[in-house]
Parts: sequence; C-alpha cells; structure tokens
Amino acid sequence: MDFYDFKSYDYKVSAAGRVNIIGEHVDYCGGKVLPAALTLRNTVYVRANGTDKINLAWTDLPDRVSLDINKLDAYRDVKYANYPAGSALMWQHAGKKIVGCDMLFECTVPFGSGLSSSAAIEVSTIAALATAAGEAIDPVEIALLAQKAEREYTGVNCGIMDQYASACGKKHHAVLLDCKTLEREYVPMELGDCALVIINCNKPHNLVESKYNERRAETEKALEILKKKLDISCLADLTPLEFACACGSLEGKVKDRARHVVEECDRVRLAVNAMKEGNMIELGSLLTSSHASLRDLYEVTGKELDALAAAAQAHPACLGSRMTGAGFGGCTVSLVKKSGVESFKQQVAEEYYKATGYRAAVYDTDADDGIRVEKI
Ligand code: GLA
Repeated sequence: MDFYDFKSYDYKVSAAGRVNIIGEHVDYCGGKVLPAALTLRNTVYVRANGTDKINLAWTDLPDRVSLDINKLDAYRDVKYANYPAGSALMWQHAGKKIVGCDMLFECTVPFGSGLSSSAAIEVSTIAALATAAGEAIDPVEIALLAQKAEREYTGVNCGIMDQYASACGKKHHAVLLDCKTLEREYVPMELGDCALVIINCNKPHNLVESKYNERRAETEKALEILKKKLDISCLADLTPLEFACACGSLEGKVKDRARHVVEECDRVRLAVNAMKEGNMIELGSLLTSSHASLRDLYEVTGKELDALAAAAQAHPACLGSRMTGAGFGGCTVSLVKKSGVESFKQQVAEEYYKATGYRAAVYDTDADDGIRVEKI
C-alpha cells in the first residue's frame, strides 16, 4: 500500500505544539504554568497492518524506519525515529497493547523553536498507537508517558508542562496547570483588543540539555537548603514575602534561581487574574517582568532572545513580551494591540535583524485542542 497516500490510512491522530504564556522554568519546582496548545501540530496517519512491525514514514523526509514490536527495547539512535520509538516503548512498558501499524508523520511545529515539537510527536505517537490497538485514550496518562520518553531519549530532565499542554489543551483556551497536583483549569483566551504574537529568533539552540539540567539542579539545591528551616515540599510553596524572609541561607546563583521561581509563580497567579479581568496592561507588564527575571536571575535568554524581546517591547502597539519555553534560543511571545500587529511584525523583524543578523520568523497560530483523533 502507498505510504504517502493519506486516504489509505484509517485514522488521523494529532497532538499540539504549545506556547507558554507565563510560568517559565517553574513546572519542575511544583509551580503553576499557563501554556496553550496550538494549531501548529504533529499529525500521525495510522493504519493497523497485521504484522509485528511499526513502519514509520515522514511527509518531509525520504527515510523509512521499521520497528519490531517485540524488540522495542533495542532501538536507540534511530535518528528521526527516536521520539516515536521511545514513546512506543513507554506505552508498551505501561502494559498497553501495541499492534503492528503503518504511521505517516506530518509536523507543522517548527523544530528547535521552543514550541514543543518533540512533545507533539511523542504525544501523537502514543495516541496513534492506542487508536490502532483499540486502547482507550487518557490524555493525562499519555502526557506522563510522553514525558518519560522525552527524559529517556533526550537526556533532558524536563517537567510535565509541554506534554500536558500537547495532550490536554483546549481550543480558544489556555491551560492553567498546577504541576504539583496535575489539577487544571481552562482559562478562556479572551484578550480584548489584543493578540499574542509568536516570533522565532531563529538562533540554533545549543547546550540546552546541559544548561537545563544545571538549572534544575540549582533549584533542587535551593530547596534542600530551605527545607532545613521551612516546612515546604517545593519552591512553589513559598510566597515572595516568605522567600525574602528565608533566603538568607542561600547564596549567589542558587539564590537568584530560587528567587526567579518564587516570583514567577506569583506572576502566574497575577497573570491569570489579569486575563480573567481583561486587564491587558497588567498582563503585558507581567510578561515583560518575566523576561527580565529569566534574563537576569535565571540566565536562560541569551543575546538573540534579549534583542528580540527588547525590539518587541519597544514597539508602541506592544504591551509586553517575553521568551517562551526552555530558552537559549527559540521564540518570544508578545501581547500586541490587534490594530498594530502588522506594523509590529515588520518593525520587530527589522530591528532584530539589525541587532543580530538573524532573520526572525513569525507564526500565525491560535489556541487549539490537545489530542485529536479523526476517522478517515
Ligand atoms: C522545557 C521543558 C518544560 C519546562 C520549560 C521551561 O520546555 O520541557 O518542562 O521546564 O522548558 O518552562
């Protein structure tokens, strides 16, 4: 059967990329985050094939990879197939049924953009395998298994935000996720006369893995020290005032990292209130403070993201702008008056090019559902 004939498949299963509106580098500290799933997605066309093989193909690559469902443990370093292979393995380890199937991947989430293309691939792979085998789809369970695959296959000790948003997002809504309890609330994306604009600085990511794990270790160190005198289970348990009273036992960078986490958690709380009240000026100013904290205290921005956020913040139609995702490259998210969006996009790209020599890319996207399964 033709691998590239969409109509020859039984199901079209997709999961979303995500933008994080606010709550950066707090998910692994038990904080709340506010991502939204996007219309930029990874789609898997899937059909059971009656064999013991999972055959993978991509719409934008000539490569084909075949995985034996009885030996899923054996695959490492299968290039583009790493995420699907890792996700299949985690699904199988969870005791779920896997059947041989053909899968065609089509991804519109730009790679390395900080918009979680990997989460979209992992989550949609598992949802497609579940669909082919007739297993029930529980988006939260899938998100947790996808997170496991990410940790095993990239060496990044990531939090749950990306996979959760990719699986459980909701059209026209952001997801307020409590990463300590996994409770969620959908917050309508009602931004009045404003829109969110996502721009990629197009600087290739590097050292993300090692720096990410280093930040995580620093926050764990801070928690360990603070726990000696406070009854807390995570940094997100502290208010900024409590932190100010207790932080004397912390030093240098460890103190800066912890302060970012505690204050960012507070900004999430304020941002959700601002969104619910329609106070866009407040929301914008929280985005800008978040960026400053990620730049000065958490040190995950870098020259290009700083230049892009600065160019955005300087535009008269912009109420606030910040980096989104892990940092060290990737995208900014800006809150912009709808009437000024076109001039914003143009001017920010020009200013950014002048400052760095990189061409930025602007994405037209909206809040969308997480996992979607359609019969073909
Ligand atoms: C990456 C990780 C997430 C989260 C963000 C930073 O996207 O996968 O778990 O930690 O960085 O907020």
